[in-house]
Amino acid sequence: MASSRISGFYNASIPERHARLALSQLEIQTLTRDGLTLELADRLIENVVGIYGLPFGIATNFHINGREYFIPMVIEEPSVVAGASHAAKLARDTGGFTASADAPVMIGQIQLLDIKNLDAAREKILGARAEILTLANSTAKTIVELGGGAREIEVRLFRDSRVGAMLVLHLLFDVRDAMGANAINTACETLAPFIAELTGGNVNLRILSNLADKRLARAACRISRAELGEEVVSGIIAAQALAEIDPYRAATHNKGIMNGIDAVALATAQDWRGIEAGAHAYAARGGQYRALTNWERDSNGDLIGSLELPLAVGIVGGTVAAHPVAQIALKLLNVQSAQELASVMAAVGLAQNLGALRALASEGIQAGHMELHARQIAIAAGAAGAQIDRIAEKLVEEKNVRLSRAKELVTQSVTRDA
Ligand code: MEV
Repeated sequence: MASSRISGFYNASIPERHARLALSQLEIQTLTRDGLTLELADRLIENVVGIYGLPFGIATNFHINGREYFIPMVIEEPSVVAGASHAAKLARDTGGFTASADAPVMIGQIQLLDIKNLDAAREKILGARAEILTLANSTAKTIVELGGGAREIEVRLFRDSRVGAMLVLHLLFDVRDAMGANAINTACETLAPFIAELTGGNVNLRILSNLADKRLARAACRISRAELGEEVVSGIIAAQALAEIDPYRAATHNKGIMNGIDAVALATAQDWRGIEAGAHAYAARGGQYRALTNWERDSNGDLIGSLELPLAVGIVGGTVAAHPVAQIALKLLNVQSAQELASVMAAVGLAQNLGALRALASEGIQAGHMELHARQIAIAAGAAGAQIDRIAEKLVEEKNVRLSRAKELVTQSVTRDA
């Protein structure tokens, strides 16, 4: 595997970047022109009238579990790809990231209402465990052949003033390399009539839980104090402290993590809404919404960071298989399993958080952000081609990154060029 430590990738031309990644002509054409055809888009969702484009970039410098990774990221926000690459470079100097993911076990929920005796119903379900697991397995023969399938059941009891007693059966199901929504939902729908008959209750919901907390991914890294400087290390630890205490800060802190994770999720055609829902529910698991990371000093004064969150992602099936750009993203990542993809995404989330906190604890994010943001403003004002960078530079130089000023500059430059 080529090193992901590519110097000058940022300044390279797009064809040079293609060459560095050893992309084939067909891949280049897919990435730059035919990403998703209208015909295919029309098959993916309903009422299609077009295709929405977003930039596809590569974060460099990622060294995870001793391996090199090019990270495909799809995102509209400037600074995210650069932030991840820069933070990965910082971590690389001290060994890169370690990352892991649990077995890909999804949770499916079956909600039962109108149960007269909750305890008796629970006993009946637990007594029928083997039958339930066998029935669930009968719905996913391929997954079972691949070593996955139903692993366990859990029964949860609730009482609510509006609906009375509720029994919720959790089916834990190893979906192997799939995200697994279809597999778990099918299993739940198949089990539901059997569970209703067993308990005498009425089935309501039969659906996966996006709080996929049997499917956690983790990443960690160490950043040398000498590299960051004592002041920045202290600033990052103070930022962590606030994100543990204050949900207003925690939401922004976690948003920064999700900048990286969502961008990889989009590039690889994952269900990013499910990932988001799981991440935020997990962040609130203790009763208060808080940071998904931890940052602390070790005995040398170096900065130690870690992140843990549910990551229900897949490398087979669904849109992942259907989307040609997602296939290229997965090829670039070169991951062999959904667990490996989840591990990489956790490392990207941690890097993204480090990049944001480092900037916030030093020069602030606006300095770097403004240059990139200025280009977007220039484009919004109607600039094209070489004009975009020229006008963006002028906006930054004037410290006036505003649409009205960009429009004036576009008009002036059109008048001058005419
Ligand atoms: C911006 O998209 C993300 C940040 O706000 C994250 C953070 O504040 O930690 C910079």
